[in-house]
Amino acid sequence: MTPGRPPLRAAVIGAGFIGLDHAAAYAADPGAELVAVVDPEVDRAAAAAAIHGARAYSSVPAMVTGSAPDVVSVCVPTALHLPIVLECAAAGLHVLLEKPMAASVADCDAIDDACRAAGLTLMVGLTHRFHRELIEARELIAGGAIGQPTMVQDVFAFGEHGPWPAWYYDRRLSGGGELMHDAVHLVDRLAWLIDSPIVEVYGRTTTGVRGLAGVEDGGVAVLSFADGTIGSLFVFEASHPLRSDAASVPMPGRLELEIHGERGSIRYRTWHELIIDLAGAPSRTVTGVARDELPREIAEFLAAVREGRPPSVGAAEGRRGIAVVQSIYESERIGRPVRVDELFPAATR
Ligand SMILES: NC(=O)c1ccc[n+]([C@@H]2O[C@H](COP(=O)([O-])OP(=O)(O)OC[C@H]3O[C@@H](n4cnc5c(N)ncnc54)[C@H](O)[C@@H]3O)[C@@H](O)[C@H]2O)c1
Repeated sequence: MTPGRPPLRAAVIGAGFIGLDHAAAYAADPGAELVAVVDPEVDRAAAAAAIHGARAYSSVPAMVTGSAPDVVSVCVPTALHLPIVLECAAAGLHVLLEKPMAASVADCDAIDDACRAAGLTLMVGLTHRFHRELIEARELIAGGAIGQPTMVQDVFAFGEHGPWPAWYYDRRLSGGGELMHDAVHLVDRLAWLIDSPIVEVYGRTTTGVRGLAGVEDGGVAVLSFADGTIGSLFVFEASHPLRSDAASVPMPGRLELEIHGERGSIRYRTWHELIIDLAGAPSRTVTGVARDELPREIAEFLAAVREGRPPSVGAAEGRRGIAVVQSIYESERIGRPVRVDELFPAATR
């Protein structure tokens, strides 16, 4: 806690897989006090609240009346991000919104508009920006260690570790399949690492594993970045187990990013190790790094609210990820590359 400042009162909306982690992170942060957990599945809200001495509610309005928080984490199914954020903005609550920002670019804009009009902080939970290994990689690239990036690749092929909740496979609630759930991290981290936006995509998707109508369980895309870098992404959710890289990796499989430049390459085996190969230097591996990305994301949100400044990851970054993923869907539909800004002109704000 900042000396002389009371902790910010925090509530978590959605007591599912990621909401429980948000609740634990607020409870552990000296700058916050977890006061409430909301879920229409009241047993879930009650169980999460009981762990941390918070109060449980079945709806946002009841929570606002009963616990008057300052800040909220929104951890509900993706298509519910818009209506829940609108409720929070109307109540004057600062919002940390889980990724993907929303089920459509139009929803992203409506969320951004509502928070701006109310003068509220809006942060988007693109957690990979808080991986210590990726922060080191970004600093190396920005400092010129690999020279101009030329090619990048990011792969998230993971073995099923238990079925996801049913809404993940319902496009009306999720906005899409693996591209929305995981590629949204990849397109964000690639563009952020090389500091250049993705401007064109050529994508294909498959429903080959589950055959679910309209929700892909795999996808590939060729990516073109504004600075001339080219790259690819590959996401796949197997229904069989895949071997884990290491016990520390929560999603077993191949979860691997590569950035190649004129003078060096950086490889990140996600949640496991960062491998740095620079011309004229021995290979260096960074491993055993603390897995504290979500607590540090929440600390950044609390600091941004307290300091009245924009958070490090906001609506523009959240919207960009949705625009890129939705452009990959459009590319699959028409069978040609798609320019992201032609399909989704940049918002003028
Ligand atoms: N940052 C990450 O890496 C990461 C990881 C997992 C999930 N997520 C995102 O977090 C969000 C939630 O995903 P999840 O895996 O925790 O899903 P989940 O199904 O495990 O949890 C969602 C919870 O929201 C509750 N809910 C539904 N409607 C609600 C409402 N109106 N008010 C309050 N609660 C409501 C559900 O009952 C459920 O308990 C999604 O947008 C998902 O994409 C992000």
